[in-house]
Amino acid sequence: MNIEERKWEVMLSESDLKERIAEMGKELKKDYDGKNLLVIALLKGSFIFCADLVRSIDIPQLKVNFMTTSSYGDGFSSAGKVKVQSDITLNDITDYDVLIVDDIADTANTMDFVVKHITKKNPKSLKTCVLLDKPSRRQVDFVPDYCGFSIEDKFVVGYGFDFEDRYRNVPYIFNVTDELR
Ligand code: IMP
Ligand code: MG
Repeated sequence: MNIEERKWEVMLSESDLKERIAEMGKELKKDYDGKNLLVIALLKGSFIFCADLVRSIDIPQLKVNFMTTSSYGDGFSSAGKVKVQSDITLNDITDYDVLIVDDIADTANTMDFVVKHITKKNPKSLKTCVLLDKPSRRQVDFVPDYCGFSIEDKFVVGYGFDFEDRYRNVPYIFNVTDELR
């Protein structure tokens, strides 16, 4: 399938993203001021969102760590079986208020798995943050604590979101308007 031959439109522009992420940063600053905030970004999808998000959170003690998961999805979402490909590099997170950051909650199999995985490490507190939420696609109960935009069931690309591992570097989010699945 050649994405260049499909019909596509901009769903969230660079300024839409910038504006919303600035708001999220202010909300997080308010909620985490004085706390030991540890942001855990899920790779690869959240790398661009997280880079912008952490720069909008004015908390000097904020730390960032990364985790990579894999799942046997079809490329459009994850199947139920999520695995840790690389774990965070901090051994003891019991003193940290953890915020797990991902690009999207789709089926939410990934977030469900990661929340359980990090909970086992006994962080002081644990919350979740996603740029996009597709609540209509859920396979498990999950409501993010912080969410940029709730969207319909459309496959999105750009700003970290990939199609066959490409287009992550597009600075805005677009969706293909003729059906992909
Ligand atoms: P989950 O289905 O909520 O576990 O989401 C798993 C992963 O599927 C996300 O982290 C994304 O990498 C990918 N994904 C879900 N929806 C989209 C989309 O619309 N575009 C690109 N990737 C997506
Ligand atoms: Mg992906």
